[in-house]
Amino acid sequence: MKITKICCIGAGYVGGPTMAVIAQKCPTLQVTVVDMNADRIAAWNDTDVANIPIYEPGLDVIIAEARGRNLFFSTEVEKAIDEAQIIFISVNTPTKTYGKGKGMAADLKYIELCARQIARVAKDNKIVVEKSTLPVRTAEAIKSILDHTGNGVQFQILSNPEFLAEGTAVQDLLHPDRILIGGDSSEEGQKAIQALVDVYANWVPANKILTTNVWSSELSKLTANAFLAQRISSINAMSELCEKTGADVKEVAKAIGMDSRIGAKFLKASVGFGGSCFQKDILNLVYIAKSYGLNEVADYWEQVIIMNDHQKRRFSNSIVQTLYNTVAGKKITFLGWAFKKDTNDTRESAAIYVADHLLNEQAKIAVFDPKVSAKKVLADLDYLETRTCEENIAGVTSYDDPYLACRDSHAIAVLTEWDEFVAYDWQKIYDSMQKPAFVFDGRNVLNASKMKTIGFVYHAIGS
Ligand code: UDX
Ligand code: ADP
Repeated sequence: MKITKICCIGAGYVGGPTMAVIAQKCPTLQVTVVDMNADRIAAWNDTDVANIPIYEPGLDVIIAEARGRNLFFSTEVEKAIDEAQIIFISVNTPTKTYGKGKGMAADLKYIELCARQIARVAKDNKIVVEKSTLPVRTAEAIKSILDHTGNGVQFQILSNPEFLAEGTAVQDLLHPDRILIGGDSSEEGQKAIQALVDVYANWVPANKILTTNVWSSELSKLTANAFLAQRISSINAMSELCEKTGADVKEVAKAIGMDSRIGAKFLKASVGFGGSCFQKDILNLVYIAKSYGLNEVADYWEQVIIMNDHQKRRFSNSIVQTLYNTVAGKKITFLGWAFKKDTNDTRESAAIYVADHLLNEQAKIAVFDPKVSAKKVLADLDYLETRTCEENIAGVTSYDDPYLACRDSHAIAVLTEWDEFVAYDWQKIYDSMQKPAFVFDGRNVLNASKMKTIGFVYHAIGS
């Protein structure tokens, strides 16, 4: 099979950047990204690349280079499926909100719809690549649908999990630690694997392209995310102990990170991890373990989530306690709403949960985030269904100017580690606030001694 055209179903945080980099690095391949969300496709096609729907440093430049040359964004899903030899599935797999496995298992309805659509449309052999974060056994489900409902054409299913992190997606895609491709051991399976290896080989060194069976590939994705999240929960657990005992978690992290067996990365204590992957993937792992009767395995991993929820709750409790046990009617300013810096993604962001707790305490929340819209902030809170939309509107105000957001406020809470926060004129902010002026640094990014010298009552995580 000669590969000339590939398509990707789902123009989201994974599909968009991944296909943009493939198109940039493989100029002879025609890459089409399709999505049923017409607004999203229109935004990807916006003549001003500043308006593409996903904020990722460096992505606009790549889009400007490849779009219209060999990279296309379209709503014509069936046409793209029909023409492509390789079809990536990159649709969302949220945690189920209903029925069996509610709150834990992944909802595969979007994947299943894609598989059925591919089966209906395909007239010649296809390689189908699962790209979204998926729980194990998804490839098997896709295969079963394709084999039983297709037009008698041959499908090869590959698992090619995405390890990019948001905010650094372009660099992660250009210089991946590894590319993982899982496939069938049959001759056809091996040929399909090779076809995908050849695509990546355009820019990824051969020793970084790993091929495995489908199961290992799927499970590796969950395992990687579970291990990473576990490191954060581990250091966050130590942060609470540090606060009680007078140790400083940053010093502890530095000291253990220099042990080459432990390593320095992912040891930043924080208000808790967010993002579309960690919680979802661990919940999947827990669900899978439970379904095999492996209760100890399930409990072990579930503790990572419990610790993360505790860290978010602990942060909001500390704000309430420090502000004399009441925040009712007080203006609390959130710097940051995204789940990490350099992204406009807010899925599972700690900010949402901290705001929700403080709204229950009748605080007035002011939000400033460089890349998140007021509409998104309200939508995130509405999604929790803790109170009515009107009540959320009454309790939360978003600002375009950080200094206005902080004016007259009783406390500032740093929820995202955006670089610009460090560079603010903190004296000016202090002068405009209610006194005592409190700062709760949920990301340990501000200079503690400078803040204290200005006069802030400064609280950091883990010291
Ligand atoms: C993660 C994985 O890193 C990536 O490989 C996978 O493909 C998808 O899930 P992502 O969710 O984009 O990527 O971001 P990541 O950088 O992993 O951060 C996740 C959360 O952990 C963020 O809220 C971040 O602020 C937090 N974090 C990270 C910490 O609190 N401390 C750290 O030391 C590192
Ligand atoms: P991720 O972070 O995994 O990329 P996103 O939610 O950002 O997740 O993107 C997933 C995209 O997939 C959404 O834009 C959604 O509209 C799209 N999508 C979901 N199901 C289908 C489908 N059956 N056909 C086309 N697009 C789909």
